[in-house]
Amino acid sequence: MAKDLVEFRNLETHFKTTAGTVKAVDSVSFTIREGETLCVVGESGCGKSVTAMSLMQLIETPPGQIVGGEIFFEGKDLLKLSKREMSRIRGNQISMIFQEPMSSLNPVLSIGEQITEPLILHMLLDRKAAKKRAIELINLVGIPRAEKIFDSYPHELSGGMRQRIMIAIALSCDPKLLIADEPTTALDVTIQAQILDLMRDIKQKLNTSIMLITHDLGVVAEMADYVVVMYAGKVIEEAPVLELFQDPQHPYTKGLLKAKPVINQKQERLYSIPGQVPNPIDLGNNCHFHERCEFCMDICKEKQPPFRSHGKYTHKSACWLYEKEGEVL
Ligand SMILES: Nc1ncnc2c1ncn2[C@@H]1O[C@H](COP(=O)(O)OP(=O)(O)OP(=O)(O)O)[C@@H](O)[C@H]1O
Ligand SMILES: [Mg+2]
Repeated sequence: MAKDLVEFRNLETHFKTTAGTVKAVDSVSFTIREGETLCVVGESGCGKSVTAMSLMQLIETPPGQIVGGEIFFEGKDLLKLSKREMSRIRGNQISMIFQEPMSSLNPVLSIGEQITEPLILHMLLDRKAAKKRAIELINLVGIPRAEKIFDSYPHELSGGMRQRIMIAIALSCDPKLLIADEPTTALDVTIQAQILDLMRDIKQKLNTSIMLITHDLGVVAEMADYVVVMYAGKVIEEAPVLELFQDPQHPYTKGLLKAKPVINQKQERLYSIPGQVPNPIDLGNNCHFHERCEFCMDICKEKQPPFRSHGKYTHKSACWLYEKEGEVL
């Protein structure tokens, strides 16, 4: 089995607001292994981006703060590093791409300047070597006529090309981990498929681990080795991708899968999970999904279910349906 690259252990990230403390990430634990694509799924507001931003240590403080837990990267707890050490890791070993490539690129700098900057700053290349590497990277992300693109400006490129450039910049320092937060949501479907192909290609060529955040289960099916399902700041299920699709355990995961359109299947109306994600302020010490769950029992309203394996050790979930009655926990 591949080595662990990142391990979140009981991570807690809170935001102080006038309405109270938002427990955006509430005791989250999971592991990303070397060369693996791990997908984080869940509805809007479940804590996916805050988990990724906590790993990058880009949580704005205040109002946000990591108040507990550990994030190990190659065995080192990132939360114990100095700002300087962390910024070195962020530049070299962990990169992130975002949903909206236009707002992440600087409109007044050429593509070449933007790709060479991290190469000069972090990889300590001189200008000539940086240009050579930048052109290699533009080719790597599948853009033809790389020399011409090097001198172009962001507004001259299409959305798909800009996202490819963002990936080129993210890969410029040979990161061990690439975090992609909804990288294709703003793109149309064919371009989306091309960008996903590119990411899969890169993973194979460079053995980069990928943490891919998405609400699209079609993307998960295509990309993931392993899946983590988040709900109201907590991980409620995790499993290898096939296992999750074939044998989902948590009623929330089942609901997400049911809400996915299936081609060639007659569907009267697309299913959607009733209700909404609860506001993560003052949530009780119970199952946070209980109000939306068709299988809700008394215990679900009173006690938080433990997160553990109920069969295969790689498949874990937090649901009272799988706990034996009367068992002492
Ligand atoms: N700066 C902030 N101040 C207050 N609350 C915040 C802040 N940033 C995030 N939150 C809250 O933290 C929770 C988790 O947010 P997060 O952005 O991680 O959700 P998400 O799963 O990425 O959703 P989406 O799919 O919409 O991107 C939400 O309830 C959000 O309102
Ligand atoms: Mg998000």
